[in-house]
Amino acid sequence: MPGVCEGPVGGVDRGHQKGGNVNIRRIHLQNFRLHADTEVFVPAKGVTAIVGGNETGKTTILEGLEWAFSGGDHTRGKVANLRWFGAPPRSGAKVTVDFSVGGKEYRVERLESTARLFAMPAETVIAQGTTPVSEAVTELIGMTHREFISTVFCRQKDVEALSRMGATDRVAFIRQVLQMEKIDEALKNLRKRKNEMAARLEGMTGSEDDLKRAEAEQREVTARVEASGAAVHAVGKELQSLSEHMSDATKVLAEERQKKGTFRDLTHRLEMAKRVREGIRSQFADLEQQIAAGKEAEAALEDAAPEGLIEELRDYLHECRRNRQRLQQALDAMSRASAARNGAVLNLKEHESRVEELQCALDAVEYDPDLLAKLDAQIQEMSRAHSETVGALRGEIEAHRTDERKTLRKIEAIKQAGEGACCPTCLRGMDGEVFDQVLESLNDHLRVVVKDAEHKEELVRQSNEMTRRGLAELRAARSDAEQARDAHKSVSSDLIHWRREVKVAEARLEEAASRRNEARADLAKIEKLDVPEAEELRSMEQELDAKVAERVRLESRVEALAVASARLERLQADHDARTVEVEALTSKIASIGFDEERYLQAEESVGGLQEKTNQAEVALSARRATYGAQKDELSRVTVRVESLREVVSSLEAQKAEYRTVTKATEMMEGFRVAVTSTIRPEMEELMSGFYAALTDGRHEAVELNEDFSAQAFEAGHAPDTLSGGASDQLALAQRLALSLMMAQRSGNPMNLLFLDEPFGSLEESRRMNVLNLIRDLSGVFTQVVVISHVAETKDAADYVVELEHDPSIGASRVVAA
Ligand SMILES: Nc1ncnc2c1ncn2[C@@H]1O[C@H](COP(=O)(O)OP(=O)(O)O)[C@@H](O)[C@H]1O
Ligand SMILES: [Mg+2]
Repeated sequence: MPGVCEGPVGGVDRGHQKGGNVNIRRIHLQNFRLHADTEVFVPAKGVTAIVGGNETGKTTILEGLEWAFSGGDHTRGKVANLRWFGAPPRSGAKVTVDFSVGGKEYRVERLESTARLFAMPAETVIAQGTTPVSEAVTELIGMTHREFISTVFCRQKDVEALSRMGATDRVAFIRQVLQMEKIDEALKNLRKRKNEMAARLEGMTGSEDDLKRAEAEQREVTARVEASGAAVHAVGKELQSLSEHMSDATKVLAEERQKKGTFRDLTHRLEMAKRVREGIRSQFADLEQQIAAGKEAEAALEDAAPEGLIEELRDYLHECRRNRQRLQQALDAMSRASAARNGAVLNLKEHESRVEELQCALDAVEYDPDLLAKLDAQIQEMSRAHSETVGALRGEIEAHRTDERKTLRKIEAIKQAGEGACCPTCLRGMDGEVFDQVLESLNDHLRVVVKDAEHKEELVRQSNEMTRRGLAELRAARSDAEQARDAHKSVSSDLIHWRREVKVAEARLEEAASRRNEARADLAKIEKLDVPEAEELRSMEQELDAKVAERVRLESRVEALAVASARLERLQADHDARTVEVEALTSKIASIGFDEERYLQAEESVGGLQEKTNQAEVALSARRATYGAQKDELSRVTVRVESLREVVSSLEAQKAEYRTVTKATEMMEGFRVAVTSTIRPEMEELMSGFYAALTDGRHEAVELNEDFSAQAFEAGHAPDTLSGGASDQLALAQRLALSLMMAQRSGNPMNLLFLDEPFGSLEESRRMNVLNLIRDLSGVFTQVVVISHVAETKDAADYVVELEHDPSIGASRVVAA
């Protein structure tokens, strides 16, 4: 179990020597890019070769180390794409690196979203979280990420980039790698500071003179302020005495004003009271006139239109009107009764004539009550006799017809039997004559029989005809008799009805006659009463109306008299009250003792004092403004004097500081020149050594120009052109020289060097040189790791790790170590 420290992690064990002597032990990649699970051990000393075909994940191992130490997006691609494509779900990319610094063991472990740094072997967590771990590693190895990779990692792409760089970029790159820019930065800051101080000191020169001038001004302004103060005081005093006078005068004026107010108020009220009294007086005459008229009317009232007379006249008129009405009604009733009686007479006459008519009609009807029965008996008798006769005749006809048929059959039989045969009846033999005789007699008999039958049929016919005609006559007579009977019956009933109606009409006539008599009696009675003519009646009415109108007129005057008397009384009382009020107000006004002249004097005196006070106030505020302005000026001058005093006193200190900064700048400039001048010879020397080794001593020396571009020398000559391979080697030599210088300059001896594909496009013999150089470098760097697809690299290595891509799992694996 790794121990987890309490509290904020990230602090590095201060017991270690900071930086230096970094040694890598193990790099373990899990689900990182094309590594599913690759573990590479690196021996503490010597050259390790990591070999394998193209795209077997060699460079990725280097990037895994870089990511574990620094995190972030420093490697190719994004963090999001770090995870192996074939990684099982929920297992992220993870890189673990075991390493030592100054002999102490550590482990850094980084996942996509977190990281931890352990102190080994106790596994104590000393930093946790992506950024804290990166910062802790930087502190531990004593290098920033940038410094670390430009020193420790010598990558093919860096070498190529260096050889392709233009002069300016190269100088900048080298200066940056060697941290010259830090010196430049420091120098820039020093110069800036120096310039700022110079400008400030420039601004401060002359401030001593300024101070003297300011002090003189301060004295002058102080004197002015004092004079102004005295003036303000004097005006203030004057104003105070004015204000005392003013307060007395104001008091007097206030009293006068109050008196004036009361006086005005009372006078107004007196005026009002007088006006009201005048108004009352003006109403008196009018009222008295009304009263006189009323009294006159009162006297005239009984003479002109006595109430009793009017009443009598009214009653009489009323009586007359009623009598006229009754008379009219009686006349109407009379004429109605006469009309009714006349109607009844007419009615009766009508009914009587109707009865007469009906009696004549009844008499005209020939009606025998037994006739119908007689006719019915005759009809019956005739029918019976007829059927009897016809029955007898029919019997005889039947007998004749039977005889006829018999005779015919006999004749037929005799004819058939012919002459000589026996007579069928008498059964005698018949010879010719007999035969003929028999036939003759038989035929005679037949003729007689037929004639009889026909005769009798004729008799039946005659009887039928006679009976039919007789019956028709009888039936016609019968229907006449029926009609006569019906007519008799209906006329009789009408007659009965109308006779009754006549009785009723007689009764009505009697009643109408008696009513007419009554009406006539009534009329006679009324005609005896007093009924004046309509014209007379109208003139009497007019007379009455005139009397009534006169009375109403006089009565209204009498009524007005009462009202006017009451009003007069009230007004009298009111008038008296007003008179009392007028007297009271007059004596009050006299008691106030208000004098307009005195009042005006008081007003004038207050106005005069007010004006004086205003003038004094204006003067005071002007003096005060001057005083305030002068005081402000004084305080401004005082501030200036103070600040100038400060400036003068700090001037010395600043001058001393300026001298120090100037000195430091000069020293830094000297230091920069010294450093720059040593870089080139040092790099030249290192490059010469590396280049000679890489070219088998064919190029014995390298010279660096101002811009750090290299010139190789061969047998004392400088060729203008170099082969591609040679220039690659020159670049490699420069890159190695840089790494070495950087390692030395950082103050920490760097023991570690990674070379990724250092051979470039070199031919085999030259590759050997590189390998030899690498072996030589192992004398300088404790741990050298060479990454290459070139198989010979293995020959130069103390330890080999061989990688292969396994298509069955879609990831790389270590095949030999
Ligand atoms: N997340 C990933 N999962 C699987 N393969 C990856 C992933 N990222 C990159 N690769 C593969 O890694 C290979 C590059 O690896 P690299 O280390 O540069 O190879 P080498 O240096 O051996 O030539 C490429 O083939 C690329 O397809
Ligand atoms: Mg590679």
